[in-house]
Amino acid sequence: MERLQKVIASSGYCSRRKAEDLIINSKVMVNGRIVNELGVKVKGDDVIKVENNVITREEKEYYVINKPRGVLSTTKDDKDRKTIIDYIETDKRIYPVGRLDYDTTGLLLLTNDGEFANNMMKPSSMIEKTYLAKINGILTKEEKLKLLSLKKYKVDNIKVKSINKTNQTSLVEITIHEGKNHEIKNIFKTINYDTLKLTRISYGFLDIKDLKSGEYRKLNIKEVKKLYSLIKK
Ligand code: URA
Repeated sequence: MERLQKVIASSGYCSRRKAEDLIINSKVMVNGRIVNELGVKVKGDDVIKVENNVITREEKEYYVINKPRGVLSTTKDDKDRKTIIDYIETDKRIYPVGRLDYDTTGLLLLTNDGEFANNMMKPSSMIEKTYLAKINGILTKEEKLKLLSLKKYKVDNIKVKSINKTNQTSLVEITIHEGKNHEIKNIFKTINYDTLKLTRISYGFLDIKDLKSGEYRKLNIKEVKKLYSLIKK
């Protein structure tokens, strides 16, 4: 038996809080009857309808993949380009937790658990994501300090891993916890650098050291619980 609002949220219909609002506002039916109080638990075969939509429940799956370059982090593409879903063998309706750009590689989570995905993607979740970025310049100490004190973007950590004087490029490890669109590229743009290559190397305690490009594995329940525990409530 699971709480009604949790089942609605895990289906991906909406957040748990929104599900509670929908219940209180008499928008939820269980086996044909309106439920308008919180605390009701449901069984696997109970039929749940929210705003007249039947909620489908399936076993939850969680994956981590090392996304290759030139792959979309969407479930489908109208131009028929390859998406990250094409890499994973499952009959579940999984989708990526957030996005990596088409040309970005590295760690991406996928799941069919809507509540998990919503929680991970909340900017307030504060889960640290570390990237390795190749930029077209030699990053100076002053520039590093400038990036650490940006108002628009919160850079948690930044380390120069190596520099290539001949090509005038730097390899930089940078940690952020928000997930704005093109965030890393935009962070480097603030000091007029282009990001030539970008890969996400870690997400909280997860990394992709054991995964080659395009390889994936399922997360176990301990890892899923640990990711939940990282979220700042
Ligand atoms: N920041 C970016 O600029 N691109 C990504 O794909 C991820 C983070």
